[in-house]
Amino acid sequence: MKNRLLAQPIEGGDAGEDGAPSERTFQRYERLAQGGSGMIWMESISVNEEGKSTPRQLWIKEDTMKGFGRLVKNLHSHHVSVIAQLTHSGRNSNPDGKHVAVCAYENPLLARERFRMITDGELEAWHRGGLIWPATDGNG
Ligand SMILES: Cc1cc2nc3c(=O)[nH]c(=O)nc-3n(C[C@H](O)[C@H](O)[C@H](O)COP(=O)(O)O)c2cc1C
Repeated sequence: MKNRLLAQPIEGGDAGEDGAPSERTFQRYERLAQGGSGMIWMESISVNEEGKSTPRQLWIKEDTMKGFGRLVKNLHSHHVSVIAQLTHSGRNSNPDGKHVAVCAYENPLLARERFRMITDGELEAWHRGGLIWPATDGNG
């Protein structure tokens, strides 16, 4: 590493509609690299659609991979080390302007209206394989 400065992850919410880094994302990271940090810890990048924290969170998948490759290449050209932060936002998932995630454990300290509990039927179906979570308005 060129120095011991680390830029911390800050979610920008400026991905393209497909989750790929947009021109804005490129500019943001370019400026960060110009700031001189030896390492950039990239913001959270969702691993699937359901787990996105916002509709415009970065989302890594087969067809956005190239964009991430270009972004990292740019950063490497500034001799910056890069960490990718891959996430699923769990009960805070909000990929489409409404919370869709289910929760497996009812914790009285967590706001009940933010998510719904997984049902026994869904769990069984999941174990059998092939379940796709239904979208919900969080009141189910
Ligand atoms: C707008 C915003 C977005 C953030 N996004 C992320 C993120 O994507 N991943 C993460 O691990 N931390 C994220 N953080 C936390 C920051 O990286 C940092 O750890 C936190 O702000 C505490 O650092 P500070 O005391 O210097 O502010 C975010 C913070 C802010 C304010």
